[in-house]
Amino acid sequence: MADDIPPTGDSIAVGDLSDLADGDMRCFPDVGDYGIVVCRYQGSLYALEDNCSHADTPLSEGRFRGAKVTCPLHGAQFDVRDGTHSGPPAFEGVACYQVVESSDGVVVMLDSGGKESSDGFGEIGGRFRTR
Ligand code: FES
Repeated sequence: MADDIPPTGDSIAVGDLSDLADGDMRCFPDVGDYGIVVCRYQGSLYALEDNCSHADTPLSEGRFRGAKVTCPLHGAQFDVRDGTHSGPPAFEGVACYQVVESSDGVVVMLDSGGKESSDGFGEIGGRFRTR
């Protein structure tokens, strides 16, 4: 964990992610209700709630290509930069959290997760509860 980064608000230090290559993602299953998945896209880090808004499936088990994570269950896609979805079968986006990366490590700002996606992020969790 990045001890030198003081938590502000509701945040969590997830350690050094300098080894996370562009196009890779890493799951932190113990954060929040469903865990978070941190993705590196074009050099920057983005964090999403690790839970498809369609039917509660971990997005970290899916595929990450371009700026989008594809759900492994039915193929809904989510933009890692803002959590918005690309269309059905998802009805809405997922929570997207601000990420701060420094030489001391990476901090995910969980209190930024309420940020609305363009399609109106709503309640936490998928529409169909499967886990
Ligand atoms: S559970 Fe993700 S698309 Fe259905």
